[in-house]
Amino acid sequence: MENLLTIQDLGVKEIKELFTLTTELKYKKNNGIEHKHLAGQSLGLIFAKSSTRTRVSFETGIYQLGGQGIFLSSDDIQLGRGETIADTAKALSRYLDGIMIRTFAQSDVEELAANSSIPVINGLTDLYHPCQALADLFTIQEKKGNLRELKLTYIGDGNNMAHSLLLGAAKVGMDISIASPKNYEPQEDIITTSEKISEDSGSEIEITNDPKLAVKEADVVYTDVWASMGDEDEAEERKKIFKDYQVNNEMMELAAANPVFLHCLPAHRGEEVTAEVIDGENSVVFDQAENRLHLQKSIMVQLMNNN
Ligand code: CP
Ligand code: NVA
Repeated sequence: MENLLTIQDLGVKEIKELFTLTTELKYKKNNGIEHKHLAGQSLGLIFAKSSTRTRVSFETGIYQLGGQGIFLSSDDIQLGRGETIADTAKALSRYLDGIMIRTFAQSDVEELAANSSIPVINGLTDLYHPCQALADLFTIQEKKGNLRELKLTYIGDGNNMAHSLLLGAAKVGMDISIASPKNYEPQEDIITTSEKISEDSGSEIEITNDPKLAVKEADVVYTDVWASMGDEDEAEERKKIFKDYQVNNEMMELAAANPVFLHCLPAHRGEEVTAEVIDGENSVVFDQAENRLHLQKSIMVQLMNNN
């Protein structure tokens, strides 16, 4: 693995290794055991969109590994004034040991990686959110003890989260059902890729417009905001289109026994999820948020240790 631009960059074996190292790093962090695997290394963090979890988990993560994080708001660096992605990548490669980037177009992340001599990590684009999906799979494994025998149901926008969860579930052999309103389904080419991957893993994939059908026998119920970053202008219109796609108690009752509820956060109570569900006993959203830290430390060690 040279970069983490999408879950497709990882094989099943690499995902397993990532999770084993995540468990070890989590144990060390929670027991005060030193783990400075990246002493003296620097990670640049380019943000063209807002963030709470991604920024703080990467910055504290690299610090705990013995290195430093440098926050680079795209408004403040020359990239925001028209410097090319390629020149930015080449210059940053002379200073840093790794770059994390959160931006709009996946192609910009790919261009950055193509012109960098250091690893690039996708911290969210309009198309994918691989670090989140990997932390989610790790969380599910922690809570349920396995991944293969399970069914994850994602209800909502067929967006970056849906895409990364779809690819991730297909890789690890977990069944996945996605229910989105018409015209908001996941991208066709990503569905096709996931179906191809699932031929080897045995994962069953269902894409539907019917949330009640999708949630049947789900071990994991997942949702995300109805209007992602960049979709703010459509927020009011989307509230009407997505109103039957709310994860509430009635929806949770259709799932399997003891389902866990996941949400990447930030959440909008009363829209995609009710307060009873996200603040209820099945919700593991803050364990999920915590695992971003441990999982991303594992990614950084795997990618940056050889520099
Ligand atoms: N889930 C997630 O990526 O959160 P932030 O937008 O706060 O980073
Ligand atoms: N789909 C959301 C995820 C936020 C972590 C967005 O892109 O805004």
